Amino acid sequence: MLEGRHVIEPGSLSVEELDRLFDLAEAIVRNPDDYMDACRGKILATLFFEPSTRTRLSFEAAMQRLGGTTLGFAEPNASSTSKGESLSDTIRTVSAYADVIAMRNPKEGAALLASQVSDVPVINAGDGGHHHPTQTLTDLMTIRSIKGKTGGLTIGLCGDLKFGRTVHSLAKAMARYPRNRFVLISPPELEIPDYIISRVFKPAGAQFSQVRRLEDAIGDLDILYMTRVQKERFFNEQDYVRLKDSYILDADKMRLARDDLTVLHPLPRVNEIATEVDADPRAAYFRQVKFGMYVRMALIAQLLGRGAAPKKGGGGR
Ligand code: NCD
Repeated sequence: MLEGRHVIEPGSLSVEELDRLFDLAEAIVRNPDDYMDACRGKILATLFFEPSTRTRLSFEAAMQRLGGTTLGFAEPNASSTSKGESLSDTIRTVSAYADVIAMRNPKEGAALLASQVSDVPVINAGDGGHHHPTQTLTDLMTIRSIKGKTGGLTIGLCGDLKFGRTVHSLAKAMARYPRNRFVLISPPELEIPDYIISRVFKPAGAQFSQVRRLEDAIGDLDILYMTRVQKERFFNEQDYVRLKDSYILDADKMRLARDDLTVLHPLPRVNEIATEVDADPRAAYFRQVKFGMYVRMALIAQLLGRGAAPKKGGGGR
């Protein structure tokens, strides 16, 4: 059971716990009305010290669809941090008001710190360039639903592999399943951090290769995970401008890909996928958004101990 636990990085949940979570998310997709009161009377706090539209709204929609309510802030200036309050004090205070906290913070390690002082479960909604576990839950559920499996896949990770936290979390999660192969497609300046290679791929025995041109790799892939160049993590504008359009997936490149390729993107997209690709049945990034809400519903329900299937014919839980 996940009741009362914190979710800080992909390893916070075992592979078996993930399976149970996805089973619940699929049950919610099939019968959403059965869960519309699952979290009645419970409060989710969304503390976003860094901008977000999708992730914050996804959490809030998830809680409201479970019958719960939400409170919080969408930018740091709206919190007492702007008066100089420490993160620990903010979390201690909010954990007195809410039953579960989803937090995004620009500092790596902020979510772990929050979990150490919070009385209620903390969900990391992104800590700097480090991790973004609920995006990974979204990605895994999308892969499981479309491919019918999470192992034995060739996964291309393309774009900003250095700063992209969704990439770091997905690599860590997919390396836990057998026979996954990774193709790392990036310019030299945006290569995946060494620790992912030495502490994730190598211990897991996962095969990986590094490629510069998307055209050279796309034909081998089961999954192509495109990412945005993370402007906000660059130290100077010139480097960003030089690297931002390193990869653009368009209809020409899609012609080199297999019919059963699945294209994912955590969104927001800037230029890295041409809009002409959206109509291609292999483009799954908008379906991914919907999976994200359902998997967050399942996660919140389980963290609050409200993930049990409703009793048949019984009326209420
Ligand atoms: C991602 C993030 O915040 O890391 N977005 C998201 O959560 N859907 C990806 C990004 O910002 O590029």
